[in-house]
Formats: sequence, structure tokens, C-alpha cells
Amino acid sequence: SEAVAFDFVIVGATGDLTMRKLLPAFYECFRRGQIDRTTKIIGVARSDLSIQDYRVKAEEALRDFVAADSYDDVTVRDFLGLVHYVSLDMSDRATDWSGLISLLSTNGGRPRVFYVATAPRLYVPTADAIGHNKLITESTRIVLEKPIGTDQATAAEINDGVGRYFTEEQIFRIDHYLGKQTVQNILALRFANPILERVWNTDSIAHVQITAAETVGVGKRGPYYDNAGALRDMVQNHLLQVLSLVAMEPPTAFSAMDLRDEKLKILRALKPMSDHDIATDTVRAQYGEGHPNGKLAPGYLEDLGAPTSTTETYLAIRAEIRTARWAGVPFYIRTGKRMASKETTVVVEFRPQPWAIFADNPEPSQLVLRIQPNEGVSLSLASKDPASEQYRLKEAVLDVDYVKAFNTRYPDSYEDLLMAAVRGDQVLFIRRDEVEASWRWIEPILRGWEKNIRPLETYPAGTQGPASSDQLLARDGFVWKENIQ
Ligand code: BG6
Repeated sequence: SEAVAFDFVIVGATGDLTMRKLLPAFYECFRRGQIDRTTKIIGVARSDLSIQDYRVKAEEALRDFVAADSYDDVTVRDFLGLVHYVSLDMSDRATDWSGLISLLSTNGGRPRVFYVATAPRLYVPTADAIGHNKLITESTRIVLEKPIGTDQATAAEINDGVGRYFTEEQIFRIDHYLGKQTVQNILALRFANPILERVWNTDSIAHVQITAAETVGVGKRGPYYDNAGALRDMVQNHLLQVLSLVAMEPPTAFSAMDLRDEKLKILRALKPMSDHDIATDTVRAQYGEGHPNGKLAPGYLEDLGAPTSTTETYLAIRAEIRTARWAGVPFYIRTGKRMASKETTVVVEFRPQPWAIFADNPEPSQLVLRIQPNEGVSLSLASKDPASEQYRLKEAVLDVDYVKAFNTRYPDSYEDLLMAAVRGDQVLFIRRDEVEASWRWIEPILRGWEKNIRPLETYPAGTQGPASSDQLLARDGFVWKENIQ
């Protein structure tokens, strides 16, 4: 694609996200020729830094976070020429904004993006101050990081507050899972391969399981994480997005409106969880001390540095989608920190053979979407075992490894998303009603857990979570698929 010229203001420019993700992603886009040299990437934060100081920081970040085979001194130097810095509290409309204003192009048609990577309580004051300073042109957009609120009411407050200055078409709620190639590929798999779409329903599918397991603990993010927990941190946004892509009806066109309409219908069709459902169909747990890879790892409380906390670092939920396509198909979701392995997968298990003619019952076929790592897709098929004299069956796997198949590097999720925000393409961003619908489903679970309807369990660091999570599936006759990477 052609190089575009734009002004991109990063609010919260000294933060971790900017250094780890945004600047390296822009660097890659620049290296690929997508960014014109007149572009300005303007870091804004309260720290009193000169442009030179900030460029030094940016260079360090690139050195740390850009892949070695992409890093090139000349390109880095050119790229740093695009990077600017203004010391300003952007949530304060009264301070002197002239430093920032003088950097912005006066060409109203040039894309201007404000990327708000600060604490969510600053979203509305920042939008207000941008509006008050009259910086919103027709090509201006605002990107909001998660979390959009902590429940329905606070999400609505943010949406209303930002919506006073920006139209919905100008608001880009980012979910970095939608930037993952393999998540985007769910759409290609389903809607460009009729062989799959024809069987993508309750007639053929027995259940779906979505796993996002991480080996890391909470690290330094304790203060944020302890207020969030796995349900808010991973499910309300990332995993419900993945679930809606897996479950949605085909959109009439590949457009932001059609796609988001269909995702929304799924979020609205999720069966609300009653207190009884919360007691029986959810599991919540916190990691304790354990021995991942044989090495002692502290428990959550020690990581957090607090004597008590009931924040869940692991959860499993059995969800149902009330539509004709999915009636009778449980969707299991699980995610956790400090688990045995890092893997994000979607497993679709097909219904068994209705009448088995073979002596041993073959395992039902399963389709595995490997979101990360080892990005790929595989389909297991019962096959005749050539080593057996009798007619014995064994599972064989058709496997596509995307990296090998396309022989190309996998871009980081932020690369596609940042450039889409610049172009004003909302396909990969979340609409207001989606955020609110997902909170509507999540909130009763939050409240039920606060009332301890489902008690918190513990699991040793480095394991697959508590045993009760297996029972959630065993009741329906299923098991979690492990080690499928
Ligand atoms: C973030 C969460 O949104 O996603 C983190 O806040 C989590 O807690 C991360 O670790 C997982 O992202 P990824 O891309 O590593 O799966």
C-alpha cells in the first residue's frame, strides 16, 4: 500500500505500552514503506523531557522490542526523525497547548489521531480538553485502550463523555486481539471456505473451547490487575471478541457496520448467567506458590505484596449462545496466569459418528485454531492405523503452519491496528454497543463472585488450574484439550 502522511499524538507517551508496542509497531510500518516521511508521531506526557531526551528513550525501546532482523541503524535514525515530544497534561484543558498545536498540520484532510494510552479515568477529561482546544477536524480520530470502564455504568460514562466531542465514527476502541493475524483469520477460514461453514453449527459441532493460557504472573502490574481480575482483563474484551468471531452469522459484507452488527448479535445472544449458573458453570481461582519448570515461583499474594486478595487469576466459564445455529453447543472459556504453558487456542470438537462400525470408537474430529504461538490450524481425522493387523483406528492430523505456509514474519497486532486507525477503518475496532453488551453479560458474574456464590479456589503456579475446571466439561462428557500446540 501507499505511504500515508498523518499526525499521530500518543497521550501517555512515556508509558510501557508506547515503548513496548506502539513505537516498535510504527517502526515496522515505516520500514515497510507505509508511513510517509512528513508524518509526525508526537509523544505527549507530563514528564519534562526535551525532544532529544525522548528520542533517546524511543531508540532504546526500539532496540529492546524490535526483532533483531528488522532493526537497522539507518532506518531507525530516519524513523526517529518523525518522533516528537511535548510535555503537557492533556487531561487539563487550561494549560498551555501551544507546543502541541504548533506541531499539528493545519490541513484538515490530513489524518490526525489521538491515541489515549493513559489511565481510563483520564479518557473523558482528555477528550474534553482536545475538544475545548478545537483540535477535532473531520479527519480526527481518537483511539481508546482497554479497559473501557469496569462495569456497565462506568463504560457508559466513558462512552458518553468521549461521545460529547467525537462521533462514533471517530472513536476507535482498540482490542489488540483483533490485530492478531490468526484472530482475523477466523473470518477467512469461516467465510471463504464453504467446506467449513456448512458444518459450522449445532448439527455437526459438539462443543467449542477457547483457551488463553499464560505462563507469566502479574509481574509489576499488580495494582492494576488486582482491581481487574481475569474476567475484566481478558474475557470482557479479548475472549468475547474471539467467541463472537467464531459464532457470528456471515456478515452481508466485509464492512465495519455489517461485521460489528453480527458480533453484537452474538454478544446479545449469550445466555445471561443466573446465580445458579454462576455457582455451577463458573470456576474462579488464584495461583499459589508452585514449581513451573521445576523452579519455585511465588503465589499471587506474594507477587502482589498484599496479605489478602480475592482477585481471580484463572477462570473457566461454560457459556451458551441462544441462537438456532448454536442451540445445545456449550462454549467453554478459560484463561489464566501462571499456567503450565502459553497457548491461545480455539478448539472446535465435532459430533461423533452416530453409528460406529469399527471396533474401537474413534475420537471425534477436532479443528484447532492456534492463535498463538505456532500460529496455524489443524484438523484431526480418524484414520486406519497401518501398524495394526486388525482394522484399528488412530488419529492423524492435517496441519497448516501459517509461518511456513506463507513464509513471512508475523506482524505484531498493533501494526495493522495503528494503520487502520490512521486510515479511519473501523472493521477491527469495537463499537460502543459491543462494549456495553459484553459488560451486560459479564457484570452478573462479577457481582455473583463478589457475593461469593462461587468460592475462590487456588491452583499451584505452573499447572492447568483447579480440578473443578475439568468437572465443568466432564459433566457434559468433554475434556479440555491440552498440549495441542
Ligand atoms: C492484555 C492483558 O490485554 O492481554 C494482559 O491486560 C495479558 O494481562 C495480555 O497478558 C495477553 O495478550 P497476548 O497478546 O500476550 O495474548
